Amino acid sequence: MQIISDQLRSGRKIIGFVPTMGFLHDGHASLIRKSKEQCDVTVVSIFVNPTQFAPNEDLESYPRDIESDKLLLRKNNVDFLFLPSAEEIYPPNFNTYVEVFGLTNKFEGEFRPTHFKGVTTIVAILCNIVKPHKTYFGQKDAQQACVIKKMIKDLQFDFDLVICPTVREPDGLAMSSRNAYLTNDDRQKALLLSQSLDEAKKLIDAGERNALIIVKKMNNNFIPEKSIHLNYISVVEVDSFSEADILEAGKSYFILIAAKVGKTRLIDNVLVHIK
Ligand code: PAJ
Repeated sequence: MQIISDQLRSGRKIIGFVPTMGFLHDGHASLIRKSKEQCDVTVVSIFVNPTQFAPNEDLESYPRDIESDKLLLRKNNVDFLFLPSAEEIYPPNFNTYVEVFGLTNKFEGEFRPTHFKGVTTIVAILCNIVKPHKTYFGQKDAQQACVIKKMIKDLQFDFDLVICPTVREPDGLAMSSRNAYLTNDDRQKALLLSQSLDEAKKLIDAGERNALIIVKKMNNNFIPEKSIHLNYISVVEVDSFSEADILEAGKSYFILIAAKVGKTRLIDNVLVHIK
């Protein structure tokens, strides 16, 4: 892959890179389409990265279907699939990690304390192999994109990060490889996440500027739903991920939500701009 990338670069080709863990869906495809639009060559990696899963998490059961992934990649005219093995990426004497501090303590980092260290490490490794000019990440994992942006800045990585909007199912559920875990009943209940984000957005459109009131109203939706266990709901500034109090004109915020629906942990968010 490094040799291919060197050849592409010496041919003045702009390389777009979409890192994924596979079980591809239209959310992944939207990143691919954006890369195809902006770059000469698009590389997609599929690697279920063991270092971003805690021992109690779903590494073993993470959904995998390489044949249908390859179909999606072909359909979208992806130029290269980079499909390394865990042994190639993490040989037995592997001993170097990349860690962003601060931003990784809260929200996802609070519930998955070792997760982001694994994410930044694998993204750094993959980008050293693929040597992209531009990388594509989804707003679906807003904190992940923010952490990677910080890594790029602090370590002076020489590629751009492009964040693409969240792709949803027709009923509003954010697409995710983990949706495959949902039972029919859970799948229905999971709609409460996107519905309460919609409701929060409507409150803001109607003039509500108090983040506490917004969060409280969202929380109330979940009280009757005993099979949903909320992890957090919060309104944060887009760049710092610091919790907002009063929403200020001219600023942008993410409303974040994370919850366990039955046995499946889901995250979602919406971006709001205050006029
Ligand atoms: P994965 O969950 O496979 O997601 C790969 C990329 O697709 C991420 O940037 C994610 O934000 C984006 N994505 C997922 N669902 C989306 C949706 N519904 N709409 C838009 N984009 C979506 O995120 C990872 O893998 C890993 O942590 C990775 C970055 C590959 C490092 O291992």
